[in-house]
Amino acid sequence: MQATDIVLCHLDDLPDGEARGFDPEGSGQDSILVVRQGARLHGYRDLCPHYGDTPMAWRRHAYLNAEGTYIVCAAHGALFEIDGGACVRGPCLGQALTPVKLAVDASGAVHLTAEQHHPKQD
Ligand code: FES
Repeated sequence: MQATDIVLCHLDDLPDGEARGFDPEGSGQDSILVVRQGARLHGYRDLCPHYGDTPMAWRRHAYLNAEGTYIVCAAHGALFEIDGGACVRGPCLGQALTPVKLAVDASGAVHLTAEQHHPKQD
């Protein structure tokens, strides 16, 4: 990942109360998830802290529980708060998702900003 600002989508592409995955690195697999709650956007790396290299969705964009109240890891059912990313149930209780910094510009473009989007460490 280059240390640059990347446009993920337009705000209109993010339905309120839903989650979307993004593949800004063009790897063929989403590495960022974004949840919209009204005017607020919550962005995280799509990596479960239980096993740090595990993508969380069982199908594309399926990051939330049925009620849309928590982010879910499909692997072992961990639940994470949408606001803050803390694990509140499951095998990684007490850990948290890794946040990424998002910004919406005047045109409504949603940017992934560089300072908190670090390359994957293997
Ligand atoms: S890998 Fe996510 S809960 Fe186990």
